[in-house]
Amino acid sequence: ADEGMWLPLFVKRLNEADMKKKGLKLTAEEIYSVNNASLKDAVVQLGGFCTGEFVSSQGLLLTNHHCGYDAIQSHSTPQNNILQNGFYAASRAEEKQNPGLFVDILVRMEDVTSKVLESITPATPEAERMAIVQQRQRELADNAKENGKYVAYVRDMFGGNEYYLFIYQRFGDVRLVGAPPEAVGKFGGDTDNWMWPRHTGDFSMFRVYADKNNQPTSGPQAGNVPYVPKKHLPVALQGVSEGDFAMVFGFPGRTQRFMPAAGLQMTLDQTNPARIKLRDTRLKLWKEDMDQDPALRLKYASKYANIANYWKYYIGQNEGMKRLKTVDAKKAEEAALAQWISQDPARQQRYGDALNTIKQSYAGLRQYNLGTQYVNEAAFGTEIITLAARMMPLASALKASPTDKAAIDKAVADLKEPVAEYFKDYSASTDKKVFAALMGLYMQDVSKDQQPEVFQTVQKQYGGSMQKYADYVFSNSFLTSEAKVNAFLAAPTAAKLEADPAYKTYQSVYSNYVQNTVPKLQNMQAGLVRANRLYVAALREKNTDKVYSPDANSTIRLSYGTVRPYKGRDAVAYDYKTTAQGILEKEDPTNPEFVVPQKELELLKMKDYGRFADKNGNLPVAFITDNDITGGNSGSPVINGRGELIGLAFDGNWEAMTGDLAYDPELKRCINVDIRYVLWCVEKMGGAKHLVDEMTLQNNGPNPG
Ligand code: ARG
Repeated sequence: ADEGMWLPLFVKRLNEADMKKKGLKLTAEEIYSVNNASLKDAVVQLGGFCTGEFVSSQGLLLTNHHCGYDAIQSHSTPQNNILQNGFYAASRAEEKQNPGLFVDILVRMEDVTSKVLESITPATPEAERMAIVQQRQRELADNAKENGKYVAYVRDMFGGNEYYLFIYQRFGDVRLVGAPPEAVGKFGGDTDNWMWPRHTGDFSMFRVYADKNNQPTSGPQAGNVPYVPKKHLPVALQGVSEGDFAMVFGFPGRTQRFMPAAGLQMTLDQTNPARIKLRDTRLKLWKEDMDQDPALRLKYASKYANIANYWKYYIGQNEGMKRLKTVDAKKAEEAALAQWISQDPARQQRYGDALNTIKQSYAGLRQYNLGTQYVNEAAFGTEIITLAARMMPLASALKASPTDKAAIDKAVADLKEPVAEYFKDYSASTDKKVFAALMGLYMQDVSKDQQPEVFQTVQKQYGGSMQKYADYVFSNSFLTSEAKVNAFLAAPTAAKLEADPAYKTYQSVYSNYVQNTVPKLQNMQAGLVRANRLYVAALREKNTDKVYSPDANSTIRLSYGTVRPYKGRDAVAYDYKTTAQGILEKEDPTNPEFVVPQKELELLKMKDYGRFADKNGNLPVAFITDNDITGGNSGSPVINGRGELIGLAFDGNWEAMTGDLAYDPELKRCINVDIRYVLWCVEKMGGAKHLVDEMTLQNNGPNPG
């Protein structure tokens, strides 16, 4: 039972004693210290969406395969398909640059609540409060940046009851060093995704580069050398047993454990069904075309994996909410809170009608929520609409000052790279099908008074057929081809852009949303923000015996627990670990999700496990712990009581898909790839012993530098 994604800043005060009881041998100071090298220096946020950890003094970084997926795909072609075949750089010179990819390393964090909230009282009107808070957040962050030396931001916690400043170094030269074949890194595919038992080698390797003085550069740069981290993690070859202490350090993205019952209800019966339906449609259409054409399969692989990942997540979250009666539990908690508030006039004064405001706000939000989901998942689920949206800054520049050449040139220059990226992985004929289907559903499912004007055109001029309208858009828009877009960018005019049918469609969707929906949402949200803040404050005041951790918000956190099996449901008990035996059991050469690469098959059949076998002579693959994690933690180090790396967190389990909304201690598990399987894949299957040596041989002494 280990709920909590804790701020490393408070480990000493809140967690150290409990962690020691569970088996931690390190001190709080060795976990988080501003002055001395500590674990936090070995953990990085990768690209803003995942976590990675240093495993050598030469900046070698481990993360998940699904975190490196986009980079791996971007270096793959049908002729040199490293996504399919895997890849290990034989030397530094072979490591592959990834412009745009960066890692953030935490310098320090600070509780700035009193600075942000100074002079604000319960009587401060909400709008005024918001303005003051935003202004101070900005000032504190700007000040901490030291003229661009650092990346810094202030994030609110507990619904705006607390504020923290985070200061990072950002390294923009992160090179791909290695990855197993996709059939290993994504073994089990979408079928096994979000499920235990698991047999996925979900890892990839990068290296962070810095300048000659070990300082960050904004992008890949000639003359850069491997970064020497303050701290890197030694890898543990002795493995894990049930009950062992385990901690996970990383950057969990988002949880909403304080979401009120009305919000859960809206997610359950409105938001998730819409997302599932629209993603279902998009994925099927993509897949049809991917199955026809290997080049297209490669182009859409990463996009497909991303959309499919959360498609299944929403399905699991809804199933779980029904099974675990999450809404009812929250209702009961709110009833008890209302009771507690009503018992005392001072509480009534402080928390007033927070709960009622929440209910009313959600009743209002529900009116507009479906339309909002369709803007996000239907309109913006169509690639050409997202490209049109990117033209906005250029459109503004062209209209604001058609003669301001510098502003226009800058807007054009800013588009160069995104446009090239976009078309690298684009198929207009596939996107046309998606456009017809998703916009068709938009027109069919969203109430008429919330529809964009362009749908009237579809009704009047295309007989209500979105297919016909799609034909027209895709035959006449210049946004369908890279050459045409570049021709436009060479001599851009507002008139040409605004006459483009894809741009017009986007404009219509966007302005409808901004003019008709946003003002209404804003009204309701202002009340909701305040009510939520009071609700969270009341909960914490009522339950003084419970130490709450703040919801995940992509800031650095630590969670701890133990290696632990679970009972999935009546009569079903899951072991805490998997072995290579399970890979052979799942192997199915006729199902792309369960193909095992030839080389791996041979090695496994010979039981050639080398020094990576466990005590019983099996090759360990994955294990579970009861650490509290969520998306964004992907790639996080799983660390034993001595501070050694035992695995990489990569997923959560199906029985606890409600975890981001409500934590269930009996069911929620963190799924990790065993470090011994990672090393086996690199050395035995990948033949890259030099990388295993880099991780294991020089890891015992202190870091140079
Ligand atoms: N569910 C995992 C996560 O969100 C992603 C796993 C990627 N694998 C896949 N088959 N799509 O962290």
